[in-house]
Amino acid sequence: MNEKENNNNHSIQKEKVITRRDFITLSASAAALVGAGVALLPFIKSLSPDAATNAVSTIEVELSEVKKGETITVMWLGSPVFVKRRTDAEIEAVRKVPLSDLKDPQKDEERVKPGKDEWLVTVGVCTHLGCVPVGGKGDYEGWYCPCHGSQYDASGRIRVGPAPENLHIPPYEFVNDTKIKIG
Ligand code: FES
Repeated sequence: MNEKENNNNHSIQKEKVITRRDFITLSASAAALVGAGVALLPFIKSLSPDAATNAVSTIEVELSEVKKGETITVMWLGSPVFVKRRTDAEIEAVRKVPLSDLKDPQKDEERVKPGKDEWLVTVGVCTHLGCVPVGGKGDYEGWYCPCHGSQYDASGRIRVGPAPENLHIPPYEFVNDTKIKIG
């Protein structure tokens, strides 16, 4: 065998080795994917649309740890919900605002449950383009939306900025004095 033939043989062998190794790698990857698919099947099956929806369509929120002036944020149907325990001063301030000053006129009393004036429960999604407003910022003791500057008061009502509507109120009820059910 001359040198040229020897080189050719060597490169053919090298090609075979690489091909075999690639095959082994591909086979192993395929087996891993199939294994993962098989493992995921029971999990996906267990999340039928009904079960998955029911699991998050209603949530209960414990309020006993929320102090006056504090806001907590919970997730409901993939959106943040602000639960704000308002101070007497905040309630008084929002109730003094004439409806004629509001872009989306609504009394504060219509936005809370009767006899539960200190609790404001509102969806934390700006009604302009859907950003999440930041609490404790802005001029109205409520929320400031950093996207385009909308500001909401302590009743969740739009006060300035491009948002057309007040923050929405989700369906909710008091289960007892210190617990609400949203949804
Ligand atoms: S999304 Fe909030 S002001 Fe535009």
